[in-house]
Amino acid sequence: MGTEMSSEANTGPTGEQGIPDTEPGGGQGIDWAALKAEAVRAMGHAYAPYSKFPVGAAALVDDGRIVSGCNVENASYGIGLCAECGLVSSLQATGGGRLVAFTCVDGHEELLMPCGRCRQLLYEFGGPELLLETIDGPKPMAEILPYAFGPHDLSRGA
Ligand code: THU
Repeated sequence: MGTEMSSEANTGPTGEQGIPDTEPGGGQGIDWAALKAEAVRAMGHAYAPYSKFPVGAAALVDDGRIVSGCNVENASYGIGLCAECGLVSSLQATGGGRLVAFTCVDGHEELLMPCGRCRQLLYEFGGPELLLETIDGPKPMAEILPYAFGPHDLSRGA
């Protein structure tokens, strides 16, 4: 598994306001195939007996780690956990850091966009420059969750 990323990727999406360039794979040396493989692996561990909709998510961290998660449902349906919940928990539990690139798959290994709540979860740890894989290629979180509420808003109100 290609967990070693180029030093370019390790510094985060610092190019052109975080907008990916046009080279294959979305630029910036991000190994999107490796991220997808990890998302698929995680999806294989999903616990989704109620929706029967397994999800796997994986992300590159700014130190080169790849973290992942799968959805974990519950008989009390409303408290089920999205795959992204597991991912951010794993991020923190394995040393923290900033998310650089993210992908998510469904049970058919097809690309899936994170739900609204999970966009907010990811924003906390990747900010507006986090790259998310979409059907139109990698896009920054600024486009996926525009006008986001975040830590910067709290600093004004304290
Ligand atoms: N799900 C995720 O894990 N992540 C998302 O971003 C969208 C939805 C899960 C929650 C639930 O277990 C299943 O997909 C069906 O909604």
